This record gives sequence, C-alpha cells and structure tokens, in this order.
Amino acid sequence: MSNKDVNRPVRKAVFPVAGLGTRFLPATKVMPKEMLPLVDRPLIQHAFEEAREAGIEEFIFVSGRHKEMLEEHFDYQPELMETLESRGKLDMVERVRDSEMPEGKLFLTRQARPLGLGHAIWCAHKLVGNEPFAVMLVDDVVLADTPCLKQMIDCYADVGGNMAAVMDVPRADTAKYGVLDVESENGQVVGIKGLVEKPKPEDAPSTLSIIGRYILQPEIFEYLGQFNKGAGNEIQLTDAIAHQIGKQPVNGYRFDGTRYDCGSRLGFIQANIAFGMRDPEIGTSVCDFVKKQAGTL
Ligand code: UTP
Repeated sequence: MSNKDVNRPVRKAVFPVAGLGTRFLPATKVMPKEMLPLVDRPLIQHAFEEAREAGIEEFIFVSGRHKEMLEEHFDYQPELMETLESRGKLDMVERVRDSEMPEGKLFLTRQARPLGLGHAIWCAHKLVGNEPFAVMLVDDVVLADTPCLKQMIDCYADVGGNMAAVMDVPRADTAKYGVLDVESENGQVVGIKGLVEKPKPEDAPSTLSIIGRYILQPEIFEYLGQFNKGAGNEIQLTDAIAHQIGKQPVNGYRFDGTRYDCGSRLGFIQANIAFGMRDPEIGTSVCDFVKKQAGTL
C-alpha cells in the first residue's frame, strides 16, 4: 500500500459509548457516564465539539443498553427553544443550538455485549466503510489550545497511516494503558515497533501510553473481525493496531495539552476544576475558591 493510500482525509469519527462505566457507580446506574457534566456540557458534547472543530463531518455512536439519552442530547428541542425565546434568553438559545447535531450526520449502531473496545469499533465497520476514521473515547478529555484531534489530523496530513495520541504516564500506572515499544522519535511523531495492552510496570517496554484519540485505516477491521481476545479477555483495539505494524505506518502522536481521565472520579474532579478555572463567566470565582481551599490544607 502506498503512502498516498493511507492519508486520505478523515471525515468520520466513531464514539464507542457502550461501556458499563463501573468506576462511576452508582452515578452511572441509570445515567450513561458520557452524560456526566464537565462544567456546563456533558462529556459526549465535549467530544462532539472537538471532532467538529477537527473537521469531522459524520458522527458514529456505538451505543448500548440504556444509552438512548446520548443521541437525544443532540436533538432539536422545539418546546425548550420556544420557551427560552419567549423569555428572551437568547444567549441560552445559542448555547442549546450549538448542542444540536447537523442534520443527517449522526449515525447509530449498537454493541449488544460489551466485549471490549476493539469489538465496539468493529461494530461500526459498515458505517465507516472503506475510509480512514477517527476514534474518540469520550471519557478522555484533553484541555488544549488546539483541540487534540485537530492536532492529530494536521499531523496525519503529512504522515498518514494509523496514529494514536500518546503521553508519558507514571510507570506504576502502565497496567491501565496500551504501552508503546518505541522505534523512533521525530518531534511529536513516535514510530512504533510494538504495542502491549495493560502491561505490568516491570514488563512495560516504555511509559509512553495511548490515550483515547486515534486515526485508523479501514484495514484494521479485518483483524478486529477475527474477534481475538486479548488482555482482560476483551477484544482489544491495541492488539489490532499492533497487527498493522509493518503493513502500514503506525505512529504515536505526542499531543500538546493535558488529558483528564473523566472515567475515574479523580480525573473527573480534576477536569471540572481545570475547565471551571478557564470558564469565561465563573473562572475567576473558581480560581478564588481553589486558592481558598488550598489555604485550608
Ligand atoms: P473503559 O475501559 O473506560 O470501560 O472503556 P467502561 O466500561 O466504559 O468503564 P469502567 O472501566 O467500567 O468504569 C473505554 C471506552 O471504550 C468504550 C467505553 O464506553 C469507553 O468510552 N467501550 C469499552 C465500549 O464501547 N464497549 C466495550 O465493550 C468496552
């Protein structure tokens, strides 16, 4: 395959949202974790906006049981809009309008059983078709001047192939991530010669780890469709990416910005503080509050 074939534009993004969210129980007993609010918008909307700003045109949700609220969030709500307009709340009308999905651009598929992230992505194969696509893990939120996926798509225009956002993690934490066996480093682009899903700290080939942003080529579905089980007895996306090494370009991308794991309670609270401190309306008050709290320690 020539390099020309593997840097076709990325128009579609897959959002796997079929996970169980057990780390956030009981909050996620009924409500999907992707609806947890980060300041004033649910996590799913933050991910949607990041994808939109990166030029994504089609949004594919891999949904599961009790997740209907996620697609409804992006609906046009006529009664709400009329009420806001009649009360003169035009700024809020704008904010709600910004949360609507462009007509005909949301596509839904289901993952009947949560068999792993790789399986969730495979469930989108018909909707993705034969073109490159992005994957956004909604609970990974990146605070950055240029949205993380936009940074990646800009870099992808040059290097093509398969790409995963990466960052260094403490060695003690490698068992939570897919970890890179690094072949080369060229600025923010990291050549990969191997990938290990959730290695013990002593077995990890590095501390450079994948977070929830990917650009993938459609050939990945061939491996995913074999339903091979990996770490944790789940069908792992990392294994499928590792399988492409040597067949197509496979790179890590050291993004600029700070990533928060909003699927964990600590990461979620940190993200709310960090985003809250930058909020145009309440930012100053949040900063004052944080300073005061720190002073009481
Ligand atoms: P997580 O590892 O965070 O799993 O999945 P989870 O079930 O969502 O949450 P916990 O660990 O039980 O608290 C990473 C991402 O992959 C999706 C999740 O929705 C999340 O965005 N996922 C995972 C699926 O869509 N299907 C799966 O089978 C597994």
